[in-house]
Amino acid sequence: MEITKATILDLNALRKLEKESFAKDAWPLLDLIAVLTFPNVIRFKATEDNQMIGFIAGDPRPNDGWGWVATIAVDPRFRLRGIGRALLHACEKELGVPRVRLTVRTSNQGAITMYEKEGYQTIDIWQNYYNDGEPAMVMEKVL
Ligand SMILES: CC(C)(COP(=O)(O)OP(=O)(O)OC[C@H]1O[C@@H](n2cnc3c(N)ncnc32)[C@H](O)[C@@H]1OP(=O)(O)O)[C@@H](O)C(=O)NCCC(=O)NCCS
Repeated sequence: MEITKATILDLNALRKLEKESFAKDAWPLLDLIAVLTFPNVIRFKATEDNQMIGFIAGDPRPNDGWGWVATIAVDPRFRLRGIGRALLHACEKELGVPRVRLTVRTSNQGAITMYEKEGYQTIDIWQNYYNDGEPAMVMEKVL
């Protein structure tokens, strides 16, 4: 497994990964194009045999003192092998800010477990954050 920077050439693979990973929240095409092209966005892919098996994007906000993990997903066939953790580490390092924040559905116990094991703590709850009304946990890691 390799972790390298993602580019617009990864658009089709990313669309597939998003659909497989986010039943309710898959990003629309325009957002996927944006995340693969906007300057300052951090984007890494995990690949095996040149196939994308994971993706992470980060949004550095140095003026705030933190950055955001915007999305993270691992191909369901490759989960629980440390790929999500490796993507998180790559993103945290590249963000170049002292604190990293993210939002997660309160029902997404798998992702919450990973974040807690990686040192993220819940700092806030945002009610009605997701399109179906589910609240978000806001989690933060001090690097
Ligand atoms: C969340 C996600 C990215 C985790 O990726 P992953 O590659 O399976 O995670 P890792 O293998 O690196 O796991 C890291 C640690 O978290 C734990 N963990 C990860 N997923 C877990 C789950 N579903 N249940 C329990 N523990 C879990 C692992 O056991 C591991 O801990 P360990 O090393 O002590 O055993 C993946 O499940 C996914 O893509 N989910 C769908 C998309 C999603 O929900 N993204 C997050 C949105 S906020």
